[in-house]
Amino acid sequence: MKTVVISIGGSVLIPELDTSRIKTFADMLVNLKKKGIRVHVVVGGGKVSREYISAAKALGANDAECDKLGIDFTRLNSRLLIAALRKNAFPEPAVSLEEAARIDTGQIIVMGGTHIGHTTDAVAALLAEYIRSDLLIIATNVDGVYEKDPKKHPKAKKFDRISASELVQIVMSSIMKAGSAGVVDPLAAKIIERSGIKTIVVNGNKPAQIESACSGVHKGTVIG
Ligand code: UTP
Repeated sequence: MKTVVISIGGSVLIPELDTSRIKTFADMLVNLKKKGIRVHVVVGGGKVSREYISAAKALGANDAECDKLGIDFTRLNSRLLIAALRKNAFPEPAVSLEEAARIDTGQIIVMGGTHIGHTTDAVAALLAEYIRSDLLIIATNVDGVYEKDPKKHPKAKKFDRISASELVQIVMSSIMKAGSAGVVDPLAAKIIERSGIKTIVVNGNKPAQIESACSGVHKGTVIG
């Protein structure tokens, strides 16, 4: 059976609290399950987590404390996706890679963050490595990996394919702080580099693209 780990940014799954949007993602994931694919989803924290992180910062929290807050939000968001998936999902968000690996009910496994110091992209890369997933999909809110942030540099070139070491070079310049957002977290890029997991970065705002990426059809960036 083919195994896939999908990292869905919170800002992709829940830009606003919109149940029909969450349902669209759930339907797409159930379609993958029906095709016989073993699906693991790692859900991000999104806008609300960033707002809480800024508030906690302003109140004097340090980055580790803010990371903890972010992790809590990733788990809350996971619960919304689990609600939409109903019996198709294991009813609890996994809190560690080991726990995710142990679940053998055949249900979709949903989880958020695990430890301070990285984002859910890194969790997804580590899970993909640990369970020897056939594929890692990073569903983000840009069309793939660009040479520079396309929101700040509209003429930046998008890559159809880049090597993992090129990805590492691009993302290493991003700032590593609680709540900070680059296309892929630097730790995730390093894990992808060391493990050689087949990885595709796609625009998650088009859930159909996540589904078709599992069969190799997408407009994103292949890492490797
Ligand atoms: P996200 O993974 O959602 O960060 O985790 P993100 O990529 O910035 O946001 P979206 O979801 O794509 O919009 C939110 C925050 O939670 C903490 C980090 O502070 C991160 O920025 N976090 C998350 C951890 O510390 N560890 C984890 O394993 C996951």
